[in-house]
Amino acid sequence: MPDSLLFINATQLVTCAGPPRARRGKEMSDIGNLKNAAVAVSDGRISMIGAASDLKNAYGDAEIVDCNGGVLMPGLVDSHTHAVFGKARFEEHEQRAAGLDYMAIAERGGGVHASVRDFRARAEKELYALALPRLRELASYGTTTLEIKSGYGLTTADELKALAVIGRLGERQPLRIVPTWLGAHEIPHEYRSDEMRRATFVDALIDEQLPKVVEQGIARFADVFCEPGVFTTDETRRILEAARKAGLGLKLHADELKPSGGAQLAVSLGAISADHLAAVSKQGIDALAKSDTVATLLPGTMLFLGKSKQGPARELIDAGAAVALASDFNPGTSPTVNFPLIMTLGVSQLRMSLAEAVIACTVNGAAALGLAGEIGQVAPGFSADLALFSIDDIRELPYWYGARLCVGSWKAGAPCHPHEIVTKLNARPPEVVPAG
Ligand code: NIG
Ligand code: FE
Repeated sequence: MPDSLLFINATQLVTCAGPPRARRGKEMSDIGNLKNAAVAVSDGRISMIGAASDLKNAYGDAEIVDCNGGVLMPGLVDSHTHAVFGKARFEEHEQRAAGLDYMAIAERGGGVHASVRDFRARAEKELYALALPRLRELASYGTTTLEIKSGYGLTTADELKALAVIGRLGERQPLRIVPTWLGAHEIPHEYRSDEMRRATFVDALIDEQLPKVVEQGIARFADVFCEPGVFTTDETRRILEAARKAGLGLKLHADELKPSGGAQLAVSLGAISADHLAAVSKQGIDALAKSDTVATLLPGTMLFLGKSKQGPARELIDAGAAVALASDFNPGTSPTVNFPLIMTLGVSQLRMSLAEAVIACTVNGAAALGLAGEIGQVAPGFSADLALFSIDDIRELPYWYGARLCVGSWKAGAPCHPHEIVTKLNARPPEVVPAG
């Protein structure tokens, strides 16, 4: 990799520059859109932003990256995924269409349980090989940072296996990976017979699994699926208090399908994010708005589950909360690798403005991972995590929904997705020469 890079010829440079923390309420309306600015990168960090002519003088030896009139912005930060899994679960898609809901499928041994049976049967190497092309696909849409949760193992050995795969992915492929321990993703069938068995499972998570995860240093965050029918708020509190004491940051799957006070619990525990929230109560919204907990909404999940109810982005932002968007990429409820499509849903379904959706996928995604001082903005001193899109105007990114518009991305100045030049969807037609 060359010491310096110089990005020139971007029609728009969306910087998202500002304070190195989550943006809340009205702060989410400012994306810092610069026309015709160039960006210099030295040793993997943004060093200067300015007119191309000035930067060319200052960085004479830099390798030039021609943005070809596209839009350059911070690499997208996907702060909630379950990207390490075995088989796909397309049969459940049809079952839901025929009237079975997500929880009913889980009660019959499908859902997370189906992925768990499959995951346990696979070797670490195989899971790594399955994940790799999926991550390449995610990168091809502009994602440069990816949180990945364990949670399809549900035994200590299998959860450690999941985190080992996530760790290897972090070392051996170009995306920036943040590992989360989700040993409390489900109560396995073998522990559901009575309350005693259930308590045994929760005790083992705290006394046996968590210490091993922490000792091996393989997770940055702990997460729990707090939901009626899965983990209660009391169980969630016990697990997350232990995780916090052991030095992990906290996340929660909160109020996804039914309200159970998950958002308020996240706030009271000082969690870095509360995720899902499609069923959050008014009290939950108020608690989030007054806290530093990022409200992470996952509109792809509700869309794919066929639900009409979405996370209340408008109410949250208008109340002053910090909202992030994430893909929830997983085989059951959100099998999409297309993060800009999530931005589309942010605007179309959650009624976010373009600027709010952009901040939600950059700065606020970074804040939901404790990385707001490192990534999520194009500003001097930040890591050169960048994404280039073949559009003239940032508003086109959620507009051409489903299209793959990313034509290059970089993590700390190193390529994530190869830089290519492609035609724009709104390219001007060639001039028609009148006949005769
Ligand atoms: O975030 N809600 C729980 N966990 C995942 C679903 C995982 C699965 O169904 O495999 C989610 O939607
Ligand atoms: Fe999830």
